[in-house]
Amino acid sequence: MRDIQNIVILTGAGLSAESGIATFRGPGGLWEGHRVEDVCTPEALAHDPELVHRFYDARRAKLAEVAPNPAHVALARLDAEWSGQLLIVTQNVDDLHERAGANRMLHMHGELKSALCAACGDNVEWEDNLPPGTQCPNCGTPALRPDIVFFGEMPYHMDVIEAALADADLFVSIGTSGAVYPAAGFVQTARYHGAQTLELNLDPSAGSHWFGETRLGPAGTLVPEWVDAMLA
Ligand code: OAD
Repeated sequence: MRDIQNIVILTGAGLSAESGIATFRGPGGLWEGHRVEDVCTPEALAHDPELVHRFYDARRAKLAEVAPNPAHVALARLDAEWSGQLLIVTQNVDDLHERAGANRMLHMHGELKSALCAACGDNVEWEDNLPPGTQCPNCGTPALRPDIVFFGEMPYHMDVIEAALADADLFVSIGTSGAVYPAAGFVQTARYHGAQTLELNLDPSAGSHWFGETRLGPAGTLVPEWVDAMLA
């Protein structure tokens, strides 16, 4: 077993569940109340922009009511204190990693607090509601949309993520169902390059068998325990 210097951490909706943000799948999940194809595809945006914008406006507004939980705080501490390379790749579009103080992190599925211009491709920080037809401050086209990676669109930062996975000594997946690619395949990439692999999740994910070790439980408990052990 090689020494652990370089760590890649993938996080999903389960990480923010204890902060009060609904996960996507399972009882009470967001995809129970809304069909994915109605709110999370380019076709939905073209067909019913009011509905798609309203869906993300509500989720953006919810951010004001929630706060980072002990799992976000522990990962921010690991980021601050780990002397090797570290990259937190989140599928989450909330801002709880940042609010906990994490720096070495990327949003691969976009961010609620960002708007994307469908005309010029500019990304703009965004706090308030985003009605369809809002003008882009960069090019002036009324084409700002939620900066969310819809199904069928390319996730962000894949080149940086692939490079980090190739160099990783340890890959840790936290709070994700393993239902959505390419993130669901990161464990296989990391294994291929020789990394140890660990899953921390409430239930076994779809790709649980790929992990060298799985610990089941709430992230708010498992993640601080794991971080304490890594920094001991
Ligand atoms: P899911 O809702 O698919 O899965 C959440 C996972 O978190 C499940 O495996 C739960 O068992 C686990 N979980 C729930 N509560 C937990 C807790 N307190 N502690 C630890 N684990 C817990 O969410 P994601 O895997 O993040 O994409 O979903 C992946 C992508 O599918 C999302 O980024 C989103 C969605 O469609 C886009 O919107 C593009």
